[in-house]
Amino acid sequence: MALLGVNIDHVATVRQARRTDEPDPIWAAAEAELGGADGITFHLREDRRHIGDRDAEVLRRTVAVKLNMEMAAADEIVAIAARLKPDQCTLVPERREELTTEGGLDVVRHRARVAATVARLKNEGIVVSAFIEPVADQIEASAAVGFDAIELWTGAYAHARTPKQRAGAVEVLRAGIALGHQVGLEVHGGHGLTYRNIAPIAALPGFGEFNIGHSIVSRAIFVGMREAVREMKRLLDLYAPRP
Ligand code: PXP
Repeated sequence: MALLGVNIDHVATVRQARRTDEPDPIWAAAEAELGGADGITFHLREDRRHIGDRDAEVLRRTVAVKLNMEMAAADEIVAIAARLKPDQCTLVPERREELTTEGGLDVVRHRARVAATVARLKNEGIVVSAFIEPVADQIEASAAVGFDAIELWTGAYAHARTPKQRAGAVEVLRAGIALGHQVGLEVHGGHGLTYRNIAPIAALPGFGEFNIGHSIVSRAIFVGMREAVREMKRLLDLYAPRP
Protein backbone atom coordinates (compact mmCIF):
# COMPACT_ATOMS: atom_id res chain seq x y z
CA MET A 1 0.00 0.00 0.00
CA ALA A 2 1.29 3.45 -0.94
CA LEU A 3 2.38 5.84 1.79
CA LEU A 4 0.20 8.87 2.51
CA GLY A 5 1.81 12.29 2.72
CA VAL A 6 -0.62 14.87 4.08
CA ASN A 7 -0.18 18.38 2.68
CA ILE A 8 -1.03 20.88 5.41
CA ASP A 9 -0.62 24.12 3.41
CA HIS A 10 -4.29 24.98 3.49
CA VAL A 11 -4.39 25.01 7.27
CA ALA A 12 -1.93 27.89 6.97
CA THR A 13 -4.12 29.41 4.23
CA VAL A 14 -6.97 29.72 6.76
CA ARG A 15 -4.60 31.24 9.32
CA GLN A 16 -3.32 33.77 6.79
CA ALA A 17 -6.88 34.83 5.95
CA ARG A 18 -6.76 36.67 9.30
CA ARG A 19 -2.98 36.94 9.69
CA THR A 20 -3.34 35.48 13.17
CA ASP A 21 -1.90 32.41 14.90
CA GLU A 22 -4.67 29.88 14.30
CA PRO A 23 -5.20 27.32 12.97
CA ASP A 24 -1.58 26.33 13.39
CA PRO A 25 -0.21 24.02 10.65
CA ILE A 26 2.13 22.57 13.27
CA TRP A 27 -0.88 21.28 15.23
CA ALA A 28 -2.35 19.99 11.98
CA ALA A 29 0.84 18.04 11.30
CA ALA A 30 0.76 16.49 14.79
CA GLU A 31 -2.91 15.54 14.39
CA ALA A 32 -2.21 14.10 10.93
CA GLU A 33 0.56 11.96 12.40
CA LEU A 34 -1.83 10.70 15.09
CA GLY A 35 -4.28 9.79 12.32
CA GLY A 36 -1.63 7.65 10.64
CA ALA A 37 -0.01 9.97 8.10
CA ASP A 38 3.20 8.47 6.77
CA GLY A 39 4.50 11.88 5.85
CA ILE A 40 3.84 15.59 6.20
CA THR A 41 4.13 17.73 3.08
CA PHE A 42 4.37 21.51 2.94
CA HIS A 43 5.13 24.02 0.21
CA LEU A 44 7.31 26.98 1.12
CA ARG A 45 6.35 29.33 -1.68
CA GLU A 46 8.47 32.29 -2.65
CA ASP A 47 5.56 34.61 -1.84
CA ARG A 48 4.96 32.86 1.56
CA ARG A 49 1.25 32.98 0.92
CA HIS A 50 0.50 30.19 3.38
CA ILE A 51 3.42 28.35 4.97
CA GLY A 52 6.05 30.72 6.37
CA ASP A 53 9.66 30.37 7.46
CA ARG A 54 8.66 29.81 11.10
CA ASP A 55 6.36 26.97 10.05
CA ALA A 56 9.09 25.29 8.02
CA GLU A 57 11.54 25.54 10.95
CA VAL A 58 9.10 24.21 13.54
CA LEU A 59 7.88 21.42 11.26
CA ARG A 60 11.47 20.27 10.81
CA ARG A 61 11.91 20.15 14.58
CA THR A 62 8.60 18.47 15.43
CA VAL A 63 7.51 16.15 12.60
CA ALA A 64 8.53 12.58 13.37
CA VAL A 65 7.39 11.00 10.08
CA LYS A 66 8.83 11.75 6.62
CA LEU A 67 8.95 15.50 5.98
CA ASN A 68 8.50 16.46 2.33
CA MET A 69 9.15 20.05 1.29
CA GLU A 70 7.65 21.21 -2.00
CA MET A 71 9.58 24.05 -3.53
CA ALA A 72 10.58 25.91 -6.63
CA ALA A 73 14.19 25.63 -7.83
CA ALA A 74 14.77 29.21 -6.62
CA ASP A 75 18.07 30.16 -4.94
CA GLU A 76 16.55 31.55 -1.73
CA ILE A 77 14.31 28.52 -1.19
CA VAL A 78 17.03 26.03 -2.11
CA ALA A 79 19.29 27.62 0.53
CA ILE A 80 16.55 27.22 3.16
CA ALA A 81 16.02 23.57 2.18
CA ALA A 82 19.76 22.89 2.34
CA ARG A 83 19.79 24.25 5.90
CA LEU A 84 16.55 22.60 7.11
CA LYS A 85 17.28 19.24 5.51
CA PRO A 86 13.77 17.85 5.10
CA ASP A 87 13.77 14.13 4.32
CA GLN A 88 12.60 14.86 0.78
CA CYS A 89 12.34 17.90 -1.47
CA THR A 90 9.82 17.86 -4.31
CA LEU A 91 10.63 20.39 -7.01
CA VAL A 92 7.53 22.04 -8.43
CA PRO A 93 6.90 24.86 -10.89
CA GLU A 94 5.72 28.06 -9.24
CA ARG A 95 3.94 31.07 -10.63
CA ARG A 96 2.74 33.83 -8.39
CA GLU A 97 -0.63 34.25 -10.08
CA GLU A 98 -1.62 30.59 -9.84
CA LEU A 99 -4.20 29.33 -7.31
CA THR A 100 -2.20 26.18 -6.67
CA THR A 101 0.57 24.29 -8.45
CA GLU A 102 -0.75 23.85 -11.96
CA GLY A 103 0.83 21.08 -14.01
CA GLY A 104 4.30 19.69 -13.65
CA LEU A 105 7.83 21.03 -13.69
CA ASP A 106 9.31 21.24 -17.18
CA VAL A 107 12.51 19.33 -16.50
CA VAL A 108 13.32 19.13 -20.22
CA ARG A 109 13.23 22.91 -20.67
CA HIS A 110 14.93 23.87 -17.40
CA ARG A 111 17.34 20.96 -17.44
CA ALA A 112 20.57 22.77 -16.44
CA ARG A 113 19.02 24.74 -13.55
CA VAL A 114 17.10 21.71 -12.29
CA ALA A 115 20.21 19.49 -12.49
CA ALA A 116 22.21 21.98 -10.39
CA THR A 117 19.44 22.14 -7.76
CA VAL A 118 19.14 18.34 -7.62
CA ALA A 119 22.91 18.01 -7.14
CA ARG A 120 22.94 20.63 -4.35
CA LEU A 121 20.07 19.00 -2.43
CA LYS A 122 21.38 15.46 -2.88
CA ASN A 123 24.72 16.68 -1.58
CA GLU A 124 22.90 17.56 1.67
CA GLY A 125 21.57 13.99 1.89
CA ILE A 126 18.03 14.96 0.85
CA VAL A 127 15.93 12.66 -1.36
CA VAL A 128 14.84 14.69 -4.39
CA SER A 129 11.60 14.21 -6.30
CA ALA A 130 10.31 15.93 -9.47
CA PHE A 131 6.65 16.87 -9.75
CA ILE A 132 6.06 16.25 -13.45
CA GLU A 133 3.36 15.41 -15.94
CA PRO A 134 3.22 11.72 -16.82
CA VAL A 135 4.92 12.08 -20.21
CA ALA A 136 7.90 10.06 -21.41
CA ASP A 137 10.39 12.86 -22.12
CA GLN A 138 9.87 14.45 -18.68
CA ILE A 139 10.25 11.08 -16.93
CA GLU A 140 13.42 10.24 -18.85
CA ALA A 141 14.87 13.73 -18.26
CA SER A 142 14.11 13.42 -14.52
CA ALA A 143 16.15 10.23 -14.35
CA ALA A 144 18.93 11.78 -16.43
CA VAL A 145 19.35 14.83 -14.16
CA GLY A 146 19.62 12.62 -11.07
CA PHE A 147 16.24 12.73 -9.32
CA ASP A 148 15.56 9.85 -6.92
CA ALA A 149 11.82 9.97 -7.49
CA ILE A 150 9.07 11.51 -9.57
CA GLU A 151 5.65 12.62 -8.39
CA LEU A 152 3.29 12.20 -11.31
CA TRP A 153 0.76 15.01 -11.64
CA THR A 154 -2.67 13.41 -11.29
CA GLY A 155 -4.47 16.61 -12.31
CA ALA A 156 -5.51 15.34 -15.76
CA TYR A 157 -7.26 12.45 -14.03
CA ALA A 158 -8.78 14.66 -11.34
CA HIS A 159 -10.07 17.21 -13.85
CA ALA A 160 -11.40 14.65 -16.38
CA ARG A 161 -15.07 15.24 -17.17
CA THR A 162 -16.11 11.95 -18.73
CA PRO A 163 -15.56 8.28 -17.82
CA LYS A 164 -13.60 7.90 -21.09
CA GLN A 165 -11.26 10.80 -20.26
CA ARG A 166 -10.85 9.44 -16.75
CA ALA A 167 -10.01 5.93 -17.98
CA GLY A 168 -7.55 7.42 -20.48
CA ALA A 169 -5.83 9.42 -17.73
CA VAL A 170 -5.51 6.28 -15.60
CA GLU A 171 -3.79 4.49 -18.49
CA VAL A 172 -1.40 7.43 -19.00
CA LEU A 173 -0.49 7.20 -15.32
CA ARG A 174 -0.05 3.42 -15.57
CA ALA A 175 2.41 3.90 -18.45
CA GLY A 176 4.18 6.68 -16.52
CA ILE A 177 4.66 4.42 -13.50
CA ALA A 178 6.09 1.66 -15.71
CA LEU A 179 8.54 3.99 -17.45
CA GLY A 180 9.53 5.61 -14.13
CA HIS A 181 10.43 2.22 -12.69
CA GLN A 182 12.22 1.22 -15.89
CA VAL A 183 14.53 4.25 -15.61
CA GLY A 184 15.15 3.57 -11.91
CA LEU A 185 12.90 6.12 -10.23
CA GLU A 186 10.55 5.80 -7.29
CA VAL A 187 7.09 6.91 -8.37
CA HIS A 188 4.69 9.06 -6.33
CA GLY A 189 1.37 10.67 -7.26
CA GLY A 190 -0.48 13.82 -6.33
CA HIS A 191 -2.75 16.73 -7.12
CA GLY A 192 -6.52 16.83 -7.01
CA LEU A 193 -6.91 13.44 -5.33
CA THR A 194 -10.01 13.20 -3.16
CA TYR A 195 -12.05 10.70 -1.13
CA ARG A 196 -14.36 10.41 -4.14
CA ASN A 197 -11.78 9.86 -6.89
CA ILE A 198 -8.93 8.01 -5.17
CA ALA A 199 -10.10 4.41 -5.81
CA PRO A 200 -8.80 3.82 -9.38
CA ILE A 201 -5.54 5.61 -8.56
CA ALA A 202 -4.99 3.70 -5.31
CA ALA A 203 -5.60 0.49 -7.28
CA LEU A 204 -2.76 1.19 -9.73
CA PRO A 205 0.26 -0.95 -8.87
CA GLY A 206 3.53 0.92 -8.41
CA PHE A 207 2.70 4.19 -6.66
CA GLY A 208 4.92 4.37 -3.58
CA GLU A 209 3.45 7.56 -2.12
CA PHE A 210 0.52 9.92 -2.55
CA ASN A 211 0.56 13.54 -1.47
CA ILE A 212 -2.92 14.81 -0.75
CA GLY A 213 -3.82 18.20 0.68
CA HIS A 214 -6.98 20.07 -0.22
CA SER A 215 -9.41 17.20 0.15
CA ILE A 216 -8.04 16.05 3.51
CA VAL A 217 -7.96 19.58 4.97
CA SER A 218 -11.52 20.10 3.68
CA ARG A 219 -12.71 16.88 5.30
CA ALA A 220 -10.89 17.81 8.51
CA ILE A 221 -13.19 20.82 8.90
CA PHE A 222 -16.03 18.38 9.56
CA VAL A 223 -14.41 15.40 11.25
CA GLY A 224 -11.05 16.68 12.51
CA MET A 225 -7.64 16.11 10.98
CA ARG A 226 -6.98 12.84 12.79
CA GLU A 227 -10.17 11.22 11.51
CA ALA A 228 -9.81 12.74 8.02
CA VAL A 229 -6.38 11.13 7.68
CA ARG A 230 -7.65 7.81 9.04
CA GLU A 231 -10.44 7.80 6.45
CA MET A 232 -8.03 8.39 3.57
CA LYS A 233 -5.67 5.70 4.89
CA ARG A 234 -8.62 3.30 5.01
CA LEU A 235 -9.44 4.03 1.35
CA LEU A 236 -5.81 3.55 0.30
CA ASP A 237 -5.83 0.20 2.09
CA LEU A 238 -9.25 -0.82 0.72
CA TYR A 239 -8.29 -0.17 -2.90
CA ALA A 240 -4.59 -1.08 -2.73
CA PRO A 241 -3.49 -3.50 -5.45
CA ARG A 242 -3.47 -7.06 -4.14
CA PRO A 243 -0.86 -9.50 -5.41
N1 PXP B 1 1.74 17.28 -4.74
C1 PXP B 1 2.26 18.45 -5.15
C2 PXP B 1 3.63 18.44 -5.75
C3 PXP B 1 1.58 19.67 -4.97
O1 PXP B 1 2.13 20.82 -5.39
C4 PXP B 1 0.32 19.64 -4.36
C5 PXP B 1 -0.42 20.91 -4.13
O2 PXP B 1 0.29 21.73 -3.25
C6 PXP B 1 -0.17 18.41 -3.91
C7 PXP B 1 0.54 17.24 -4.15
C8 PXP B 1 -1.49 18.30 -3.21
O3 PXP B 1 -2.51 18.60 -4.08
P1 PXP B 1 -3.99 18.71 -3.54
O4 PXP B 1 -4.03 19.84 -2.57
O5 PXP B 1 -4.79 18.95 -4.78
O6 PXP B 1 -4.30 17.39 -2.88
